This record gives sequence, structure tokens and C-alpha cells, in this order.
Amino acid sequence: MRILVIGSGGREHALVWKLAQSPLVTEIFVAPGNGGMDGEKITSVPVRADDIAGLVKLARDKRVDIVVPGPELALTMGIADALEIVGIPCFGPDRYCAQLEGSKSFAKNVMEKSGVPTAACAVFRDANAAKDFVRAQGAPLVIKADGLAAGKGVIVAQTEQEALDAVDSIMCQKSFGEAGACVVIEECLKGEEVSLLCLCDGTHVVPLPSAQDHKAAYDDDTGPNTGGMGAYSPAPILPDSELEHMSDLVIRPVLEHLAHEGHPFTGILYAGLMMTEKGPKVLEYNVRFGDPECQPLLSRLDSDLASIILACVRGELSRELVHCTPKSAVGVVITASGYPGSYNKGMPIEGIDEAEALSDVKVFHSGTKRDGDAVVANGGRILCVTALGESLTQARDKAYEAVSRIRMPDSRFRTDIGLKGIRRLNEQQQEG
Ligand code: AMP
Ligand code: GLY
Repeated sequence: MRILVIGSGGREHALVWKLAQSPLVTEIFVAPGNGGMDGEKITSVPVRADDIAGLVKLARDKRVDIVVPGPELALTMGIADALEIVGIPCFGPDRYCAQLEGSKSFAKNVMEKSGVPTAACAVFRDANAAKDFVRAQGAPLVIKADGLAAGKGVIVAQTEQEALDAVDSIMCQKSFGEAGACVVIEECLKGEEVSLLCLCDGTHVVPLPSAQDHKAAYDDDTGPNTGGMGAYSPAPILPDSELEHMSDLVIRPVLEHLAHEGHPFTGILYAGLMMTEKGPKVLEYNVRFGDPECQPLLSRLDSDLASIILACVRGELSRELVHCTPKSAVGVVITASGYPGSYNKGMPIEGIDEAEALSDVKVFHSGTKRDGDAVVANGGRILCVTALGESLTQARDKAYEAVSRIRMPDSRFRTDIGLKGIRRLNEQQQEG
């Protein structure tokens, strides 16, 4: 098999790393890739992840058998549809299904039609009507730009004024451009968040173990939102024993609805859940692996990813193909000091080999590039140091030991990745 992976982050490094282990895979191309990906079987090609025509041409020129998009943009732009025309299968949904991530109002509509529990909401195309609604409801409220806004289009407003300002910023000042032509205003939910990622072949659904992301920049979930400062799996709030039930609640009805609409969903359907007192509710769908959730999840995957992806594009996915180790995994993201604000690039990175000398440790590259023999920082999120352990505590200890072996000026990381899960496990043990 020859595979093209699209993207340049830690998620894509994990995909490439896992695919390269497959005896089925002879060659992997990655567009555009980063400083950690080149190796035996693996070639980076400088085509941008949003250059649909360029990616399709690359897939044809290199005669690849399957394309695996990492980030959402190519999917919402219709890479799967464009590949279908030239007869190349894509492990990712078509443009219609990708609206689940690309348009919050589309996702809400699908949830309503398929009976998926989610926050009550109203959709507005007119700023004055949105503001009248805010005044009538009162705070807290959650204001969401309809379209893709690089993870920044959601404002959890604690006061009425914040909510009005959010509507102003999104709809009148167009802070997120056309993504803000429409807003979704939601009831504010309370609870712990957890991610459920499912493999889908259009009809069949196989859930992966649960994971939890850490979106805030600093410890104790403080500071501005980021792309994700670390993740672990499993998340004790969603144990393995509940994965099938949760898929029945929030994934399978959506797949049935989409298939009925003539658009069977292939790829990863990711539900961001809030575990509220009134039960689980979907905050959002993503139509791809999460970054950094992908790194601990693929670290736990024991079976052959290429076989799984092949089965998905053929509509032959089955439970038997997917085995994960019962071990826990923790991934700690190292970022540039200033991230998610402005930050420096070019810092030399040392100690990756020493970190990976620890058993069951893998250092996934995100914003890195090669500079001669050296690897230097080239982005906000730079590395995701991922470790497996017999327990969440052991995985966490090992991940931080590995982090301590990495030397990079002007960088930082959160020190509490995985702690919420460990605390919940302790509570569960005391209760049970
Ligand atoms: P989303 O991109 O829709 O997942 O929103 C980003 C983040 O905003 C989520 O991870 C939650 O922390 C928060 N959020 C989104 N919707 C709600 C809601 N209805 N109530 C409370 N928090 C929310
Ligand atoms: N880690 C959250 C995301 O990938 O959207």
C-alpha cells in the first residue's frame, strides 16, 4: 500500500509513525509534514494541506492507494469528493458530512434530527435578533461562530455584556470573517469534558477508548484556549464498558441519518462531550482525529492501522480489527513560551533520543523543522511527549520523566496533564 497523509502536526506524525509499522505499507508520503517525519518508507512533499488540486495531483502522481487527511480544512474543502472523481479512496468524510465540523448550525440540525442529546440552542443570521435573544435569556450563554475559526470561535459568556460583545465581535466586526455570518447561541452546560473518537466505514462504528484533552494554556485549566496542551487515554469518566452505549447515543444515530441523506460517513467521527448532571451532551463534532488526542490513542493501538483504514474505506470495518492495549497513555505538549500568543521560532531542540530511550516513550513532532542535522522549533505547539504505563499514574510519571530529558530554550508545558483522570480514578476507587 502507498499512502498519502495530509498535515504537519503531532497528530499526523502519530499517523505516519503507526502506518509505517504496517507490513502492508510500502511507502508513505506526507504533505507537507514536519521535522520529525522523514524516515525509511516516509517522504515529505511540500504541498500545502489546503491545496486540494495540488494534493489530488500528488496522490495521482505518486499512485497512492489511500489518502488520510489529518486536519479538517481539506475535508471541509471537499478533498474526499475530489479524490472520488479520480478513483482514490479517502479515509475521511465527503464535504457534505464534513459540515458536521465546518458548520455548527448544520451539526445542531443533524443532532436534532437524529435525537442526539445536546445543549438547547438558537441560530441567528441577524445581529440585532441575536442580541434581543441574549437580553431575553440572560447569562451565562455560549456564543459560537457558525464556521471554522481555528478553535477560537466559541465564547463562554458569564455575563450578558460578554455575550452581547461576543455577538458584536463575531457578527458585526467579523473577527472570524465569513465563519461569523451566522451564530449559534447555546445554553451553558456544566460538567467534565471527554472525547469519544469512533472509526466509521459508512455503516459500522467501532469506538476507540476515551480520551481527554487539556485546552487551556496553563495548569488547573486557566489561561487562554489553545489547540490542546496534552491528552490522556482512557479518561475514567468514560470507561471502556460504556463506549458502545455512548456510541449508540451520539454516533450511530448520526451515521444513520447521514447515510439516509445519501452521504455515508467514512473516517473518524469525534464527539466532544460534556458529562452533565442530566447525562452526556454533545458540545461539538469533529470529522477527524483530535490533536493531541491522536497521539495517546494511537500509542495504545496494538492492531495494524493500515488494515483498519483499508477496511473503513471498503465498508468492511469490524470490532475484531481493533485492539488497544489496556495500558494508559499520557501525552504532554511542549510549546513555545508565548503560545497561544505570539512566540519565537528557531530554538534548537536537544534530548529527543534520550527521552525515547525510556521504554514505551515516543516523542511526536508538531511545529518542528530540520536545520541541517539539528531539529529546531517552528511553531506554537512543538512536541508531544507520549508515554504508556500500567496505570495513568505510571504513564504520567514516565511522560514527565521523558519531558525532563528534553532541552529547549524559550519553551514550556503544563505540569498537570492527566491529573484530573487520576483524581477521578481515586474517587471511583473510594466509592467502589
Ligand atoms: P466547541 O468548539 O464547540 O467544542 O467549543 C469549545 C469549547 O467551548 C468546549 O470544549 C467547551 O469547553 C466550551 N463549550 C462549548 N459549548 C459549550 C456549552 N454549551 N456549554 C459550556 N461550554 C461549552
Ligand atoms: N484537541 C482538540 C481538537 O483536535 O479539536
